[in-house]
Amino acid sequence: MRTLARLWPYVRPVRARLLTAAFVAVVASCTGLVIPLVLKWMVDGPVADRDPAGVWLGALCLFLLGIAEAVLFGIRRWLVARPLSHVEAEMRAGLYRRLQRLPVAFHDRWASGQLLSRATTDLMLLRMFLAFPLTFLLVNGVTIVAGVVIMLVQDWTLGLVILVPAVPVLWTCVVFERRYAEVARRAQDQVGDLTTVVEESVLGIRIIKGFGRHRTQARAFRELSGRLRGTELRKARLLATIWGVIVTLPEAAIGAALVLGAVRVADGELSAGTLVAFLSTALALRWPVDSIGFLLAMSQEAATATERYFEVMDEEPESADEGAPAPRTAPGGDTGLRFENVQFRYPDAAPGSPPVLTRVDLHIRPGESMALVGATGSGKTTLTALVPRLHEVTSGRITLDGVDIRKMTREELRTKVAVAFEEPTLFSASVGENVLMGAPDDAGKPELDRALAIAQADFAHTLPQGTDTRVGEQGLSLSGGQRQRLALARAVVGRPGFLVLDDPLSALDVHTEAAVEGALRRVLAGTTALIVAHRPSTVLLADRVALLSEGRITAVGTHQELLRHNSEYAHLMSGEQEDSR
Ligand SMILES: Nc1ncnc2c1ncn2[C@@H]1O[C@H](COP(=O)(O)OP(=O)(O)OP(=O)(O)O)[C@@H](O)[C@H]1O
Ligand SMILES: [Mg+2]
Repeated sequence: MRTLARLWPYVRPVRARLLTAAFVAVVASCTGLVIPLVLKWMVDGPVADRDPAGVWLGALCLFLLGIAEAVLFGIRRWLVARPLSHVEAEMRAGLYRRLQRLPVAFHDRWASGQLLSRATTDLMLLRMFLAFPLTFLLVNGVTIVAGVVIMLVQDWTLGLVILVPAVPVLWTCVVFERRYAEVARRAQDQVGDLTTVVEESVLGIRIIKGFGRHRTQARAFRELSGRLRGTELRKARLLATIWGVIVTLPEAAIGAALVLGAVRVADGELSAGTLVAFLSTALALRWPVDSIGFLLAMSQEAATATERYFEVMDEEPESADEGAPAPRTAPGGDTGLRFENVQFRYPDAAPGSPPVLTRVDLHIRPGESMALVGATGSGKTTLTALVPRLHEVTSGRITLDGVDIRKMTREELRTKVAVAFEEPTLFSASVGENVLMGAPDDAGKPELDRALAIAQADFAHTLPQGTDTRVGEQGLSLSGGQRQRLALARAVVGRPGFLVLDDPLSALDVHTEAAVEGALRRVLAGTTALIVAHRPSTVLLADRVALLSEGRITAVGTHQELLRHNSEYAHLMSGEQEDSR
């Protein structure tokens, strides 16, 4: 109950309709309870008196009551369908919005399948809960109470007989709820795991096939889905148990009441009409009582789904921006991109492990391009991710033109800084849309063409539909180098003041790389750039080079200087030099 109460803010806007629908359903259900009373009148009156006209009148009444009940239930359906799909859509949009705002560290930690299953299966469970159990637990509750009152009024001894199973049934419900809660949670988590496996194996299908692992993968999947099947079967067993108890005990009570009632009618203590009315009331209550089992099960699943939904919604989003408008330049005239005593450790790193960056001090002058070199795993990618604030520095600070990046809004920061990462990610959209993602909204064809030219990505014009060709997941597949060049075009299209490139040319052949460099040199003239590089050819693009080692910048200078004076740098570059000759 407490968990489900958290749904209230989403349900609030549609509460009037839901309440009306519940009221209509109660009326419909109680209309059904009038039918036994008409039967009683018919049996004791027209039937006993052999009056055909009275029987027809009674039949007409029953017919009208049946129609009324059906129409009312129809109205209820119509009332709830639209608002509930609205609630589901709102919750899904809220979840998506939250996922966009959660920090990168959150996404590092969570399996994507767990997020996917929350956005799909769990929200569907919630809509079903709001449509059925929420209303019908109330409706059935009212119907059962009303029915029991009617039965007690008809004949209180028979009524008490019917009530005997109430205690064991209630006890079963309580035990059931507790056990079902645990299994439902496990099942929903397992669905998330399964989704993750499917997603990963679809994305990694080349690796799986390339290494001939499809059988092992299929076996692993089968094992996981077998485990889910086991959990689902356990759910089914629990449901079967509660259903068995809920159906058997009341039916037995009805049987006992029938025998007792028949005896008393024979003795003349009870009218036949009363017994008919009593039994048909009891039978009318069968569905409301029987359905309690699966209504409770659905509610429990909805509670679990709510819990899983709010696990994501309760995550801390990126810290709010410190609103103060940033001064254009620092008072001291400190310009360019500066790292001051920057320390960083991943929030999810093992406790006690040393930080990735221990003390980084680096100044990149305005308009300068700085190459960042370091052994693999030395923290270059980490350092570049700090500039657009994908991760927050643990201590120290980074300034752009003298302004601490934490003092700017993220939006402002990210229009100033453009990035291209090692993995060139393209979205399922046209080439043009992918590249223009990096530009202000009013950018158009001229900017696109210019960026494609700089990144040597003119191949885009020769695609089947030119720059309107769809690429990415649902479009044309591109080569690694082609994707890299589009990602580079995306980084430069907005003419950013600061450019952060993580090994942007690694997949290009030497000639294309040289051409990109030539074009970049012209662009970079006015841009402050930090470029992670592995190859001397990329390093040569930069004005100076910084060497990252053991979490610090250990040397800064031109390529030639470092090559001569720094043995670590010479070692890093030596193997490569022979390649590029
Ligand atoms: N999300 C993360 N959580 C915890 N540790 C991480 C995370 N990402 C990277 N690391 C660790 O940080 C260290 C630096 O990684 P980083 O990717 O910055 O290296 P790199 O210099 O870019 O290497 P490469 O040249 O291979 O690209 C590595 O030891 C890595 O294990
Ligand atoms: Mg890297």
